[in-house]
Amino acid sequence: MTDAPPALAPLTDVEIWPLTGLRVVAGDLELRAPDDRMLLDLARLAAQGVHREDYMPFVVPWTRGTPTQVARGVMTYQWGLRQRTTPTDWAIELAVVRDGEPLGLQGMYAKDFRITRTAETGSWLGLRHQHGGVGTRMRLMILHLLFEGLGAERATSSAFVDNPGSSGVSRKVGYRHNGSVLQVREGAPVESQLYLLDRAGWDARPDELRLDVRIEGLGPVREQLGLDS
Ligand SMILES: CC(C)(COP(=O)(O)OP(=O)(O)OC[C@H]1O[C@@H](n2cnc3c(N)ncnc32)[C@H](O)[C@@H]1OP(=O)(O)O)[C@@H](O)C(=O)NCCC(=O)NCCS
Repeated sequence: MTDAPPALAPLTDVEIWPLTGLRVVAGDLELRAPDDRMLLDLARLAAQGVHREDYMPFVVPWTRGTPTQVARGVMTYQWGLRQRTTPTDWAIELAVVRDGEPLGLQGMYAKDFRITRTAETGSWLGLRHQHGGVGTRMRLMILHLLFEGLGAERATSSAFVDNPGSSGVSRKVGYRHNGSVLQVREGAPVESQLYLLDRAGWDARPDELRLDVRIEGLGPVREQLGLDS
């Protein structure tokens, strides 16, 4: 009779995919990686509108099409993003959640972050959740994750010159204008404003922008992004 090999302890969710354990919490808002169930809710939300019909805030016009096309586009795009969670290239979009309901997505993107310590952010909210200050709070939360949790030295953002909401958040938070680039939007040229917030600017933000933020599950995410090796 041979002895059976000792059973290996099954891996936990966080060991397999550290982002499943990440939570960035401030008051009634939470950032967390969306699972497929939450992605379906986000897809439904996007299909109900992210901006006025006569406007386009994105370089890739993913919000055009029938509600079903927009919703399916959210799913396939998000599934694709999950591949970009490596130390040299990450594109992490976290759901902004209030009372269990996703209101939109707050993303952070970096190539070779370990060397540049620089990440770009981008975001959207469902139309009915806009203009109530959530955009500012979720930006502050992702900046807290970047500067305090991941050791960023710089955060960048950009917005079309005619997007007052996105630029409004950047200016309010203390980014400085850092030039502009010409881009193509739905076949026509459009100027994009570039914004930069460095560590000194982040540290100098006024009291009303100092949210009480708690990060859970950070260690395994730092390991996944190669920050502790
Ligand atoms: C950009 C976005 C995330 C901002 O979120 P939000 O919750 O609407 O933003 P806030 O309510 O925190 O507004 C922050 C500041 O922006 C400015 N602002 C917001 N909307 C504005 C508008 N329509 N016109 C002028 N200023 C505006 C204001 O200065 C505001 O500060 P205040 O509240 O002190 O007046 C949201 O509007 C959105 O999802 N827009 C569509 C998608 C998009 O444009 N994404 C960014 C692509 S670059």
